[in-house]
Amino acid sequence: YERTFIAIKPDGTERRLVGEIIGRFEKKGFKLVGIKILHPTPEQAAKHYDDLKSKPFFDGLVKYFSSGAVVCMVWEGKDVVKTGRKLIGETNPALSVPGSIRGDLCIEVGRNIIHGSDSTQSANDEITLWFGETEVTNYESPLEKFIYERK
Ligand code: GTP
Ligand code: MG
Repeated sequence: YERTFIAIKPDGTERRLVGEIIGRFEKKGFKLVGIKILHPTPEQAAKHYDDLKSKPFFDGLVKYFSSGAVVCMVWEGKDVVKTGRKLIGETNPALSVPGSIRGDLCIEVGRNIIHGSDSTQSANDEITLWFGETEVTNYESPLEKFIYERK
């Protein structure tokens, strides 16, 4: 199955929403295969959001993402890139439906608590940026036959 990069941004960590967010991905049935907490440098944040460097909010975004502790995760599962984005909601929390992470837990686009890769290509790039090869694990779970009809 595919993998995606999910990060709980500094506001999410500060607001003690780590358990809540991990719980939602776990309960869905996705498998956590990588996790760590770190305080990104502005350089790391700028690299992560490299595709947005021409945007007027870029400097603020880099400041925001490097302002505190970020929980970096790799989640695995069927269509986890697309479905993970659905669990997260829209970029703007005001447009995110209740039931989604942003729809339930935050208010403003500049404090939207979580990041999720937007494609399998960016997922691969972001996993490589934030994790070393030995930091992402691989394990079989006997639960999977209850989550998937066939593997
Ligand atoms: P990520 O999962 O964090 O990548 O968000 P996204 O894919 O839903 O949106 P996008 O990649 O376009 O933007 C990245 C992040 O920049 C957003 O999550 C916001 O934190 C921030 N951002 C996007 N648009 C705006 C904006 O118009 N104003 C501000 N202040 N921040 C924005
Ligand atoms: Mg994005």
